[in-house]
Amino acid sequence: MNSNFIKIFDTTLRDGEQSPGASMTTDEKIKIALLLERLGVDVIEAGFAVASPGDFDAVSSIASIVKNSQICSLARAVEKDIKAAGEAVAKAPKNRIHTFIATSPIHMEYKLGMKPDEVIKRAVRAVEYAKTFVDDVEFSCEDATRSEIGFLKEIIDAVINAGAKTINLPDTVGYSIPSEYGNFVKEIVTAVNNRAIISVHCHNDLGLATANSLSAVLNGARQVECTVNGLGERAGNAALEEIVMTIKTRNDLFNGIKTNINTKEIYSASRMVANITGIEPQPNKAIVGKNAFSHESGIHQDGVLKFRETYEIMRAEDIGLEKNKLTLGKLSGSHAFKDKLMELGISIGDEDFQKAFARFKALADKKKEIFDDDIRMIVSDETSETPQIYELIKLQISDCSEGIPSASVSIKFDNKIFTDAAIGDGTIDAIFKAIDRVSGYEGKLKDYKVEAVTEGKDALAKVVVKVKFDDKKPAIMGHGLSIDTMMASARAYVAALNSYLLMRDRLTNKECDHI
Ligand code: KIV
Ligand code: ZN
Repeated sequence: MNSNFIKIFDTTLRDGEQSPGASMTTDEKIKIALLLERLGVDVIEAGFAVASPGDFDAVSSIASIVKNSQICSLARAVEKDIKAAGEAVAKAPKNRIHTFIATSPIHMEYKLGMKPDEVIKRAVRAVEYAKTFVDDVEFSCEDATRSEIGFLKEIIDAVINAGAKTINLPDTVGYSIPSEYGNFVKEIVTAVNNRAIISVHCHNDLGLATANSLSAVLNGARQVECTVNGLGERAGNAALEEIVMTIKTRNDLFNGIKTNINTKEIYSASRMVANITGIEPQPNKAIVGKNAFSHESGIHQDGVLKFRETYEIMRAEDIGLEKNKLTLGKLSGSHAFKDKLMELGISIGDEDFQKAFARFKALADKKKEIFDDDIRMIVSDETSETPQIYELIKLQISDCSEGIPSASVSIKFDNKIFTDAAIGDGTIDAIFKAIDRVSGYEGKLKDYKVEAVTEGKDALAKVVVKVKFDDKKPAIMGHGLSIDTMMASARAYVAALNSYLLMRDRLTNKECDHI
């Protein structure tokens, strides 16, 4: 394709969810999908519908809600996967099935136990069957970069004849380097000769996912698969923000190529994905890391003050970031709060607005200065919380300088309030044990992190915990927010328990654990 337009295919909700510890509830996925739609993503891979009833539910809910982006479900090249994918995306105004099979000798022999000609037959049958559900079918040659090019051309020709409109060439194990991948993509683009769009999907095992994807774009790929913050299996996928901002910033080299992305929504999308998954981008992460737009050295600061472009190649505003802008105070009313949400690109329903506003007023009573990031956090905390099966009502802790740490909690469950207390090795241990006593679930804490959302002694504390409630299931993440670290810890632990209860079926009954 010679068109100057690159489709952005976001797989945060599918490959991104394969990042260890990144499981999301359906509500959380819907929130991310709506933000991806606002960001201008062309295709949202909403999940892997056959994996479990929870995954099916998430894909079909997103398909009924999102109007502007195309909604896609992944499916192995087998009937039951394709049927589940087709049914899950049926309600979307624009839909797609993405089916795949491995094409490398190593995968065909050891994983599939299939001969190359059987793989071609299976792929063709999969595409033909997917076409009975949707018009738009994408086919991926899994582990394309370790496949034989002659075989790839053969299978690609066959699936295009069967109706595939997009051919994806994943660097599944992140093995390729930019010059090699670019040449590889060019050879397939030439062979396909405009009969389908060539897509790329690069993993970051060698830190080259973005570079490989961009090299592919320069060589004729016209769809890039990527994730917000570069989440994804193992070392992750190419980061959406890096792809989009490179194409925008170096448009001189990308020959006027455009994407549909509204870059001003990038920072909001990054924060939402980090808040929901609990996986923070590293501070020096390109574009969205905490340090990406800060200048430490005096020489750099001086240069930027004299002429911004001395040390800055992008403007923070272009990704929707106005660093730590002082925002509202305790006298601000609901109109000012609503205006601020609009300015930050946050749209929430009335009920969520009332909850977020009440939380803002409570915070403003205690905290002198409220920043944009505080607002983002409280809104995300109030609106993306998983349904509260257990709700923390009250927390009291002993003064730990005087003897054994103890805590008592009151928790609402089934419309009744239960109170219990426990002692522990430290105050946080006591809090978590008291919650265990009320709920009857015994959690094992696997990870605990606390960080300040903005600066200052009175900064909001964000606590992220990972807790294992069942030895046979993965640890579940929960996060809590408060000006008080103990309260934030208790909220985080209760959030993890609620997520566990909501997702436990999904965590065991996966149709296939590994793609
Ligand atoms: O990395 C990969 O090969 C994939 C495919 C299923 C597209 O995620
Ligand atoms: Zn992948």
